[in-house]
Amino acid sequence: SAREAIHITDVAPRDGLQNQAIRVGTEGKLRLIELLAEAGLRSIEAASFVSPKAVPQMADAGELVPQVQARFAALRTSVLVPNLKGLERAHAAGAKEIAVVLSATETMNRKNINMGLDQATEVSEQTIAAARALGMRTRAYVAVAFDCPFEGETPLDEVLRLSARMHAAAADEIVIADTIGSASPGQVKERISALRGVVPIERLAVHLHDTRGMGVANAWAALEAGVRRFDASVGGIGGCPFAPGAAGNLATEDLVLMAERSGFATGISLAGLLAAVDFAQDELQRPLGGRAIAWLRRQ
Ligand code: HMG
Ligand code: MG
Repeated sequence: SAREAIHITDVAPRDGLQNQAIRVGTEGKLRLIELLAEAGLRSIEAASFVSPKAVPQMADAGELVPQVQARFAALRTSVLVPNLKGLERAHAAGAKEIAVVLSATETMNRKNINMGLDQATEVSEQTIAAARALGMRTRAYVAVAFDCPFEGETPLDEVLRLSARMHAAAADEIVIADTIGSASPGQVKERISALRGVVPIERLAVHLHDTRGMGVANAWAALEAGVRRFDASVGGIGGCPFAPGAAGNLATEDLVLMAERSGFATGISLAGLLAAVDFAQDELQRPLGGRAIAWLRRQ
């Protein structure tokens, strides 16, 4: 029987690079994206249009995105925008897909985008509406959907309420994010099961960080709960600079290995991902890779 497909968005060019001390040039980012496309990724998050003072690594988004659009026309390329100014810049750069970032607690929104929860919710809704009017595809991150580094466990009701708001705003994808990588598989199962009651499962995506080594187990729990859309970052690089304790993202190679071995089709080549890990290692000048990297290198 045909294997069921899962869809993976590689967020390494954005989440992976945003917190790195070493600056990667526009050419290096293009090469990373090229390697991801060659590995079979059909969807990436290329950059963010945020304040260059807040995230210097993303200052070249306006130069990078038009080149990505021109060179990789078949690739679905998303960019993170925190507000209407970011959307305006993304649109000017030719972006066709954006992601807004709404955190499920007051403090995380203030630390991340300098807005309270209510304002962040309204700005996210306005940005989605404006993007849709421009014909763009939209994703809405619901960040700190498990725990907040400032407020502790995030009430499930808040995650449900905000996800429902983003769904009502007609976001194409609601991305449930474990910002600091503190979730466990039982919690993922519980929260996704509840979320299915407010957002159609085909619109739900999961964005995991791997701080405690539970990224793959959490992805499996999400798969079992019906999720078929995942964010991951090649080499496991990533983390939000404004969320203390946020380590790398779930590594794309770990997710692909787990999913393929469990009977799902990703369309992604592990050898191709290793080439991207090697390139990222050279650029960032340190060893990278997910939990399975040593085993993968021996194959
Ligand atoms: P602010 O200082 O409150 O903004 O920053 P403001 O509206 O008062 O404007 C201040 C200055 O920023 C002005 O310029 C604006 O024009 C400019 P000035 O007059 O001083 O020259 N500005 C902008 N410039 C470029 N792009 C923009 C933009 N907006 C205003 N879009 C702001 C508010 C949101 C801009 C700021 O706090 C910011 O950029 N934050 C960065 C947030 C960020 O990138 N966080 C990391 C990504 S989120 C994440 O990693 C989590 C995720 O992975 C999921 C998960 O794991 O949970 C997605
Ligand atoms: Mg993240």
